[in-house]
Amino acid sequence: MKTRKKWVILLSVMLLAVSCLSGCGQNDQRRIVRIGHNQSTNHPTHIGLTAFAEFINEQLGDKYVVEVYPSELLGSQTDMVQLTQTGAIDFCVASNAILETFSKNYEIFNLPYLFASAEAYHAAMDDPTVTDPIFTATEKAGFKAVTWLDAGTRNFYTVNKPIESPADLKGLKIRVQQSPTNIEMMNLLGGSATPMSFGEVYTSLQSNIIDGAENNEMALTDNGHGDVCKYYSYDMHQMVPDILIGNLAFLEELSEEELAIFEEGFKLLNSVQREEWVKAVENAKDKAQNEQGVVFIYPDQEPFVEACKPLHESVLSGNPDIQPIYDMIQEYNVLYPSVEE
Ligand code: GCU
Repeated sequence: MKTRKKWVILLSVMLLAVSCLSGCGQNDQRRIVRIGHNQSTNHPTHIGLTAFAEFINEQLGDKYVVEVYPSELLGSQTDMVQLTQTGAIDFCVASNAILETFSKNYEIFNLPYLFASAEAYHAAMDDPTVTDPIFTATEKAGFKAVTWLDAGTRNFYTVNKPIESPADLKGLKIRVQQSPTNIEMMNLLGGSATPMSFGEVYTSLQSNIIDGAENNEMALTDNGHGDVCKYYSYDMHQMVPDILIGNLAFLEELSEEELAIFEEGFKLLNSVQREEWVKAVENAKDKAQNEQGVVFIYPDQEPFVEACKPLHESVLSGNPDIQPIYDMIQEYNVLYPSVEE
């Protein structure tokens, strides 16, 4: 932990020095806007951010140059959130899971089986009355969310043991994201929660430090987890969005016109990423099944849902402020029920 902190400080100093060199160059006075994320350059998030960068560079290119840093080049998501907080970088994409340690309000979107369907999830995330109280909750910490990105549905996958019911998770070390809600979810389901950053998962699977993980289908192909894990089980426990966060001081320093253009860019990012997401998941399923030999399993979800129920109660009683948001989500669940209902 100590070394990680030192690394974040070192990276901040380096980035500030580079900003100064480029920003203070004799000919080029443009402000570099740095965005970090942890996905590959094939990923819908990178494609969306590239469209965002091109849009801003086109509209405001005399003043800003947007640069996108993929693949944890600027550190893990937790490191990047800290860099965004201090203003060493301007934006980063973080999983909602990581953000709950910065504001408890984010816990809500980490709840297992919160959304009845993908349609309910999308409609709730597109509704500012649902997202605003969460997206602005970290302002005191120096950053805020500017848009959300689709990260699909999270499911369990294991090296060699098919997961048909929660009982199959018993005794297995399963990587989870570094969030107390996710650790508690894993405990309720009976597995042994092993939190670590995304970039560490592949080698941990390969070296048997963990027996499995949980994520969307892209992790199998884009991150190679399907080369090691041969069973992917659609228990559909979570739809955890990814969130683009921005340094608050940077956003507040933009003029009204510039902010309007950045906001248009955030909308563009959201729509490009979501369009690409649908195609990417289809391709990932096809590749995992036909090239990596991953077996897809469709277990009865009910025992998983039942096991996770106490988490809804504990999260809501620990933070009553999010109850109205939870209730609004239930309305979307009625409007867009699961197909099985
Ligand atoms: C998904 C998500 C990432 C997250 C990762 C993880 O890939 O899009 O934001 O970091 O899961 O499990 O850590």
